Amino acid sequence: MLPRHYFHTKTQSYQYFCRFAIVLAQGTFNTKIGTFAAVAGSVVGLGNIWRFPYLAGDNGGFAFLIIYLFVSLLISMPLMLSEFSIGRSQRCNAMRAFRNISSGPWFLIGFLGVATAYVIDSFYMVVGGWSLKFLQLSIVNAFADMSAADIKGTFGHLLSNGTQLVLWSEATLVIATAVIIGGVSNGIEKFNKYLMPILLLLLIILAVNSIFFLPDSYKGLQFLFYPDFSKITFQTVLKALGQSFFSLSLGMGAMLTYSAYMPKSQRLPRTALFIVSFDTIVAIISGLAIFPAVFSFGIDPSAGPELLFITMPAVFSKIVGGQFLAILFFLLVFLAASTSQVSLLEVVTAYVSEELHIQRRKAAILIFLTMTCTGGICALSLTGAPSLTFFDMSVFDIFDYVSSNIMLPIGGLLIVLFAGWIMPKRILHAQLTNNADHEPFYFKIIRFLIRFVAPIFVSILFLHLIGIF
Ligand code: PFF
Repeated sequence: MLPRHYFHTKTQSYQYFCRFAIVLAQGTFNTKIGTFAAVAGSVVGLGNIWRFPYLAGDNGGFAFLIIYLFVSLLISMPLMLSEFSIGRSQRCNAMRAFRNISSGPWFLIGFLGVATAYVIDSFYMVVGGWSLKFLQLSIVNAFADMSAADIKGTFGHLLSNGTQLVLWSEATLVIATAVIIGGVSNGIEKFNKYLMPILLLLLIILAVNSIFFLPDSYKGLQFLFYPDFSKITFQTVLKALGQSFFSLSLGMGAMLTYSAYMPKSQRLPRTALFIVSFDTIVAIISGLAIFPAVFSFGIDPSAGPELLFITMPAVFSKIVGGQFLAILFFLLVFLAASTSQVSLLEVVTAYVSEELHIQRRKAAILIFLTMTCTGGICALSLTGAPSLTFFDMSVFDIFDYVSSNIMLPIGGLLIVLFAGWIMPKRILHAQLTNNADHEPFYFKIIRFLIRFVAPIFVSILFLHLIGIF
């Protein structure tokens, strides 16, 4: 029992006991490796597989990579450490964490995070559904002997079939909800601890096959890595920053929520550095798995859905052992999407369960039901139904656009401003040094980045994303 004088005020003691109760309600990650796997599971997703490699290849190759590393270390990492510090110091859902630290409207940042996670998950589950459908098609060897046009037709057919779209998306939601109901340690931690190594193994097998066993694979390596510094402009820096945010799951409370479950002894700066490096390495290996194969068959590289669901199956249809490789590939895409989806769902679950004072399981089921509706609407909007199209954009596209271009950067900006200017310095210090257990020389540098550098760059990114310059 803590001595009475431990708390200065009644509110403090109340907050302490609330937090304590919540930690018990949601649980914590049991091991450091499990924590790492869970965070890695969130950050490694479609962003690594379908966006990064193309972005790098198209924007200066190795030159882009250098810029990407710079912005990730100087801007994304401070933002990640801000989220980690807020989350682990408060050990509760995103909204309550802000409210605990400061009164006033700051809790709205947490609320924005929860809303962003919800919106992203609504369309992320649809893409997860596509990967599951393509996994099934690979298993029945449907791509054998198909031409690129046939595969395009198959993907188009899926997009026009509302029932299929909804059912496959729903399947991914069922899996993610089951993991969430399993709990923080028994569900999320275990799920990621087993799946992340498999994901990495699949990726390495595919990359080795592409680089060493396909003709002319060097052309893909050239596309990915050839340094072209003439392509680096300020716009490139902003593209790198936007990608880095999305890829590191920042700006929407995912890292904040997961950090609430981290062990006290976890060293946050080291974890953040590991995660940034791991995420970038996975993105590069994805590029090594994809582009040598694409160039080897003289196919034009592309990004986004087309790359995964048209170009890659076209490549597999031509390779010896293509069926097996296609199965590995779509399993990889599905796992990457699914572990990220779980983290999105957890942001919302922690919020609903703690704010409505209901059990995790009930919260998860409630979210499952509402997400079935919003995710279903996103899925159906892809069929081009006029009632689900606004300003010439499907609901799916609107959700994607609004979350990535508006909600994420605003969330990111407000989080660094809060951590740098509103949150007491002692919280950041205690979290980054594990209560002064060790005194990193870089504390001052990180704080400077959080207070000045990150807010300026994120503001510029936001203005750029909404087309102001
Ligand atoms: N980081 C994921 C990706 O690269 O695909 C996307 C994402 C997942 C964003 C989870 C935000 C999040 F909370």
